[in-house]
Amino acid sequence: MLIKRVDSDILIIGGGMAGCGAAYEARKWGKNLKIIIVEKANIDRSGAVAMGLSAINTYLGMRWNENTPEDYVSYVRGDLMGIIREDLVYDIGRHVDSSVHLFEEWGLPIVKSEETGRYTREGRWQVLIHGESYKPIVAEAAKKAATEVINRVMVTRLLKDPNDPNRISGAVGFDVRDGSMYVFRSKAVILAAGGATHIFRPRSVGEGWGRTWYSPWSSGSAYGLAIEAGAKMVQMEIRLVPTRFKDGYGPVGAWFLYIKSKATNALGESYDTNREKLRKKYGKYADVKPIPTCLRNDLMLDEIRQGKSPILMHTEDALDSRDKEEAGWEDFLDMTVSQALVWASQNIDPKEKPSELVVTEPYIMGSHAVNAGTWVSGPPGIAPKEYSWGYNRMTVIIGLFAAGDAAGGAAHKFSSGSFAEGRIAGKNAVRYLRDNNPKLSEMDDEAIESFKSEIFAPFENYNLGRSFITKKGVVSPYYLLPSQGLKRLEKIMDEYSAGVSSDYTTNAVAMRRGLELLDMLQEDLPLLGAEDIHQLQRAWELHHRVMTAQAVMRHTLFREETRWPGYYYRSDFPQIDDMNWHVFVVSKYDSKSNKWEFEKIPVIHIIGDS
Ligand code: FAD
Ligand code: ADX
Repeated sequence: MLIKRVDSDILIIGGGMAGCGAAYEARKWGKNLKIIIVEKANIDRSGAVAMGLSAINTYLGMRWNENTPEDYVSYVRGDLMGIIREDLVYDIGRHVDSSVHLFEEWGLPIVKSEETGRYTREGRWQVLIHGESYKPIVAEAAKKAATEVINRVMVTRLLKDPNDPNRISGAVGFDVRDGSMYVFRSKAVILAAGGATHIFRPRSVGEGWGRTWYSPWSSGSAYGLAIEAGAKMVQMEIRLVPTRFKDGYGPVGAWFLYIKSKATNALGESYDTNREKLRKKYGKYADVKPIPTCLRNDLMLDEIRQGKSPILMHTEDALDSRDKEEAGWEDFLDMTVSQALVWASQNIDPKEKPSELVVTEPYIMGSHAVNAGTWVSGPPGIAPKEYSWGYNRMTVIIGLFAAGDAAGGAAHKFSSGSFAEGRIAGKNAVRYLRDNNPKLSEMDDEAIESFKSEIFAPFENYNLGRSFITKKGVVSPYYLLPSQGLKRLEKIMDEYSAGVSSDYTTNAVAMRRGLELLDMLQEDLPLLGAEDIHQLQRAWELHHRVMTAQAVMRHTLFREETRWPGYYYRSDFPQIDDMNWHVFVVSKYDSKSNKWEFEKIPVIHIIGDS
C-alpha cells in the first residue's frame, strides 16, 4: 500500500466553482504559499458545472446600475421566506460581478446586446452564456494558481490537531484510480466539496436511477466531512425541490424568464401566479416579488393534488422566433443534454408540442434557492456580533473555511456566487495564515495506520465475507454493498423525511421512526464491503450521504413549522410561525458521544427593503 504525504499552507477540498475561486484568490494574496487542490474527479470537468451551463444566474450588473447589493439581499430574503444570513448574501452581492468579468476575460462567451453592449439578461439576475466550456475555462485559472491539483483523490475525513481539537490540521483520502492513500497536512483548509444528491429516492427508477437534476456525484462530502469534524451546521432542514422538465430534468429558468413560456395544468388553466390562493394560506409571504420558489412549487403541487396533472410547459406557444428556438435548444445542449435527448427520443418537437413539468426529489445544497451548509463567520464591518467570531467564511473550527454549496446561510449564489465566495474564503485563509502563522501538526505513524484501516475497511470486509455470498455475488450475510446501503438511505429519507412518495410531507412521529432506521443504517456502515476501488468510493460517498441525511432529518424535526411550503410540509405544524421560528436552526454533532445539539440563533435584518 502506497501512502502519499502532502504538506501545504492551504488545502482546498473540491475543485468545483468555489474551489477554483478559492485557489485563484489565495494565490493573489499569498504569492509564495503552497496551495493544493484535491479533487475526486478531474478539475477540468468536475462538479455541478461539469456539463456546462447556459446562464450565469447571479450577476448584478452594477456597472450599468442594474441592481445593487441591497436589491440582491432583498430578493434573496424574499425567496427564502426571510431566513438568510444577510451579511453573507450582501458580501457575495458586492463581489460577484467582478468574478463574472474575470470569466469573460478568460474566454467565456457571454451573450451581449449589439445595441447597448450590455450582457443579455435572461431575467433580472441572470445573464445568458454560451457555456458548454464554462468549467474548463474556470479550471484553467485554478490550475495556474494552485501549486498542484491532485485529481482523482477523494477526501474521506478531516483531521484536527491532536493538541488543539478545535483546530484543523488536514485531511485523509484515497486515489480513486490506483488505491493509494493520501495524508494531507495543512495549516488551513477550504471546504468546497459541493452539494448532495441521492439523499432522497429519485423519481428516476431502474436503469435511470442515477438520473437526477443536480449532479449525481455531489455526494454530500462537504456536509459529511464538516459534521464529523464538529463544525456547526445551519439550514440543513431546507431542501431544494426544483421544477424541472419531466425525466430529462431540464431547468426551467430560461423558459420562464427569457423565452416567456407559460405553464398550465392539464385543463389548460394558468395556476402559477395565483397570489390570492397563497395569501389565504401564507399571508404576507404571498405578496413577495417574485413569488418565492417554494411557493411556486406549492401552487403546482396544489394542482397535482387536485388531479389536474400533467402540468404542461407550453413551449409550442412560446417558440415564435428563430432566436427563441435556438435559445431553447441551446439551453439544454449547453447544460442538460439529457433533456434534448428526451425530446429527440420521444418525438417531441417543442415547437409543436408542450412538455411535462414536475417537481423533483429534494436536494441538499447551499448555492441555489436554498442555503444549507456550515455555519460560517461573516464579513467584518457588516456581520453583527452574533455572526462574527473569526475570519470571513471560517467555520467554528479554527482554520477550516467553507464556500459554495458547503457554506450555509446565503442562497442564490449559483455558479458565479460560489466562485466569488470561494475567492472570499481564499483571501481570508491567507489572512488567517499571515496573522497566526500556524504550524503543521505532528502526525505519528500510529495515527496514519488507524486512518488507513478506516479508509480501506470495506476491502477487508469484502475479502472476509465474499466466500459466503449468495445470489451471484450480490447478497452476503457479512457485508452490505454501497448500492444496497444507498437504496436503504433513499427509501428512509423518501418515506420519513418528506420525499416524493410521502408527497413532501412529514411529522414528528414519522421522523422519529425515520431516525431509528437511519441510526440502524449508520450502525451498519462499518460493515460496508467493496470489491474494487470504485466501490470503495461509493462506500465513502454513502458514508457522507448518511451523515448529511442525519442532519437533514434532525433539523427538520427540530423546526416545528412549515417555513418553506412546496419544499416540504410538516403536517403537525402546517403554518409559518414567525413568532417562534423566524430563526436559524444550528446543529453540532459530537462524534465521540454520537450526540447532536441544537440551538436557535436569531435572524438579524441588517439591510432594509429596496
Ligand atoms: P461544485 O461546483 O459541484 O464543486 C464541488 C467539487 O467538489 C466537485 O468538483 C467535486 O468533484 C468535488 N468533491 C466532492 N466531494 C469530494 C471529496 N470527498 N473529495 C474531493 N473532492 C470532492 N448555476 C448558474 O449560475 N447558472 C445556471 O444556469 C445553473 N444551472 C445549473 C444546471 C445544472 C444541471 C446543475 C447541476 C447546476 C446548475 N447551476 C447553475 C448551479 C451551479 O452549478 C452550482 O451552484 C455551483 O457549481 C456550486 O459550486 P460548488 O463549488 O459549491 O460545487
Ligand atoms: S438552474 O440553476 O438549473 O438554471 P432554474 O432554471 O430553476 O435552475 O433557475 C434559473 C434561474 O431562474 C434561477 O435564478 C431561478 O431562481 C430563476 N427562476 C426559475 N424559474 C423562475 C420563475 N418562474 N420566476 C422567477 N425566477 C425563476
